[in-house]
Amino acid sequence: MEKRNSVFECQECGYASPKWLGRCPDCGGWNSLVEERRERGRPGGKRTARPARLGDISTEAIPRIDTRNPEFNRTLGGGIVPGSLILLGGEPGVGKSTLLLQIARSLEGMSVLYASGEESMQQIRLRADRLGEPPAGAGELYLLADSSLEGILAAVEEVKPGALVVDSVQTACSESLESAPGSMSQVRHVAVTLLNLAKRTHLPVFLIGHVTKDGAIAGPKALEHIVDVVLYFEGEGKRNHRIIRAVKNRFGAANEVGIFEMTSRGLLPAANPSGLFLPDRELSAGSSVVCALEGTRPLLVEIQALVVATQYSNARRVADGVNYNRISVLVAMLEKRLGVQMTGSDIYVSTAGGIEVNDPGADLGLFAAIFGSLRNRPIASRTVFVGELSLSGDVRPVPQAHLRVREAAAMGFSRVILPAGNLPLVDPVGGIELEPIDTVAELTELIFP
Ligand code: TYD
Ligand code: MG
Repeated sequence: MEKRNSVFECQECGYASPKWLGRCPDCGGWNSLVEERRERGRPGGKRTARPARLGDISTEAIPRIDTRNPEFNRTLGGGIVPGSLILLGGEPGVGKSTLLLQIARSLEGMSVLYASGEESMQQIRLRADRLGEPPAGAGELYLLADSSLEGILAAVEEVKPGALVVDSVQTACSESLESAPGSMSQVRHVAVTLLNLAKRTHLPVFLIGHVTKDGAIAGPKALEHIVDVVLYFEGEGKRNHRIIRAVKNRFGAANEVGIFEMTSRGLLPAANPSGLFLPDRELSAGSSVVCALEGTRPLLVEIQALVVATQYSNARRVADGVNYNRISVLVAMLEKRLGVQMTGSDIYVSTAGGIEVNDPGADLGLFAAIFGSLRNRPIASRTVFVGELSLSGDVRPVPQAHLRVREAAAMGFSRVILPAGNLPLVDPVGGIELEPIDTVAELTELIFP
């Protein structure tokens, strides 16, 4: 009997089963299994790698290609690494095609092939015209309106570009597979083929991927482990600025953020990143300013908290831009360490400007914002909070305290409340008063004497 060369794969999580099932046993999705034909053999085929002695391997710094966009360079960890496969994900309309078209026309002395299965060549040309003149010395840009992977590979052979952009992984598809474009096996096959191309020829490849709000479609999420770098647009893109975060980077710091402004001439590096997340007025009750280290950059961000008596039997806890579990811990600490009753209160916490703050060094400021709303008293303006909290209510030192203090000074703040343990490592900065503390009990006395 001929062995069937197909498998049923969940389009949500990638679970594979030899037979059809109504419900995915892995992620619990209903009706999400689709028959996919498996390709025989290993993609890429021939052996290309040879073993080498550790000592023989070159330790020279990785060369990087300057994108001539400082914020994008920063997100990538200093520029494009030749031979890397970079995934850029985000919701439709956020600016993925715009940004990569700009980058594609900016690389110095390097031609780029931009393959799009989403738009016609005319549409791309019109967008390029909106973006204005490319910077001096930029190489030729070649467009290809083709979604076939084989077509893209043939065009690479023909043009021999210095970089390749594929827009998008959901529309690109290989003729060697029968499944539909955007299906799990197509998306994965496209990514693996492009990875092999990148590694074999040292061609840097950008792959655009659409992500929906819940990130549930086949695509970017399933590719994160294959590609070298994963960049996502953060926030909902309703404002003028855009945030791109490197959630994975094999060649640089993860969590690095680039901050851009959407203008009539495309996405440009933001002139004053910290300023985008700060209030332009006096702080109101329930607001505080933290200096969070995102990647290698200190960023000042306003935190807003609202504590109100709950109307329902269950108190609501909503965290937007900050970790939900972290808020629960801080609230528990408020109850235990300061003896405040929080069970009857709804608590909402969010960051200004749609940026996500993942740094535990923001704990102290989150705590201060919640406490400020509870007391209904504003915290003195020009104050920045830095510090991680332990469950016991101790204020623990944070990495790079001196960078954070300097950023606060640069943005015109006059006072930094920070962990006493950080004090010996921070050089005095003109115009900044440092207030070291050891516990959250000291914090409350300091902000509301
Ligand atoms: P686009 O790059 O098409 O989004 P994606 O590829 O992520 O789906 O971005 C489209 C949005 O960007 C659209 O709403 C128009 C806006 N835009 C500008 O504001 N300025 C510009 O110069 C360009 C080219 C687009
Ligand atoms: Mg697009």
